Amino acid sequence: MPINRRFTLVRRPVGMPVDADFSLVSETAPALEEGQFLLRNHYASLDPAMRGWMDDRPSYMPPIRLGDPIRASTLGVVAESRNPDFPVGAWASGLGGIEDYTLHQRGSGRLIDPQALPSVTNYLSLFGGVGPTAYLGLLDVGQPKAGDTVLVSGAAGGVGSLVGQIAKIKGCRTVGIAGGPRKCERLLRDYGYDAAIDYRGKSAEELTAAIREAAPDGVDVQFENVGGIILDAGLMTLNPKARVVLCGLISQYNSEPVPVNNLWQLIVKGARIEGFIMTQYAHRIAEAVPELSNWLKEGKLRIDEHIEAGIENALPAFLRLFEGTNEGKMILKLA
Ligand SMILES: NC(=O)c1ccc[n+]([C@@H]2O[C@H](COP(=O)([O-])OP(=O)(O)OC[C@H]3O[C@@H](n4cnc5c(N)ncnc54)[C@H](OP(=O)(O)O)[C@@H]3O)[C@@H](O)[C@H]2O)c1
Repeated sequence: MPINRRFTLVRRPVGMPVDADFSLVSETAPALEEGQFLLRNHYASLDPAMRGWMDDRPSYMPPIRLGDPIRASTLGVVAESRNPDFPVGAWASGLGGIEDYTLHQRGSGRLIDPQALPSVTNYLSLFGGVGPTAYLGLLDVGQPKAGDTVLVSGAAGGVGSLVGQIAKIKGCRTVGIAGGPRKCERLLRDYGYDAAIDYRGKSAEELTAAIREAAPDGVDVQFENVGGIILDAGLMTLNPKARVVLCGLISQYNSEPVPVNNLWQLIVKGARIEGFIMTQYAHRIAEAVPELSNWLKEGKLRIDEHIEAGIENALPAFLRLFEGTNEGKMILKLA
């Protein structure tokens, strides 16, 4: 039986996670029962949502149990199998953990074709939680029409960079918000945003002024990945009947929630705010996948991946999401 290194949760983080919240343990991978297969994980997706799974509170998924590996979407190669649908040597993906090997029960995991996309990691950066979230969150909840102005926060990240590009494909004007001049440059150059706003060092009022300047006709769709003063500033710029897609609140994942001051704007603009969670759209992923892969193959979508290597680097790689030092979809290489 192979040795399985597992990056486990041993204490629930308070605020920003620290080393002592985790332990890297080595265990023998279990012997397989009928219907199971063992996936040698090659890559794990690092997602802001994992921070929420570390807390013990009601959510769309149960909290990670203390002693369990950090839950993550992974992909890799079947190492051992007692399931004829997952032969040894086949590539597969599924919800596993940050660990060398994940034991999949019957009904869990799916086969993938490593040749079907430019890179096998695109299964995490385009088809994991990220691409379908951008596609369905924007198109289904945001309902953009050609000519609309779409405001995106976290605009240079995995989700945000795709939202901006999909909105452009649909004929919208796009305004992206990101941290620092380098990321703002990337918004304009790499993801085709019409305007970029650096939120760092700005008050809510200064941000509102910057958004008004970048979106002189007002905002029709606000795709919110960050929350806090960025959400508040965007609300002040909404057009009548605007749609706010609440996709993430990353600014608050390691701190106490801050109040939202400008919800009254939804009343006076007859606008709506709607939460989006990918797990409730699982049955619609099949709609997003063909169009996203066609756009990728036609060169209409640019995907950036930030890959860090080594299970021992799991925590610093994960923390990049909160430091803003990831340049693209954050992925950990495990093999
Ligand atoms: N609802 C769903 O189903 C769903 C699915 C996937 C992701 N999401 C959400 O989508 C958002 C983006 O996720 P992602 O995977 O694409 O990550 P990402 O955008 O690639 O990385 C996170 C980025 O968030 C920004 N950030 C971090 N802390 C911040 C803070 N305190 N204030 C402002 N910006 C901050 C940083 O960019 P800057 O350098 O620009 O600050 C960082 O690079 C997250 O909120 C995530 O929870 C939701």
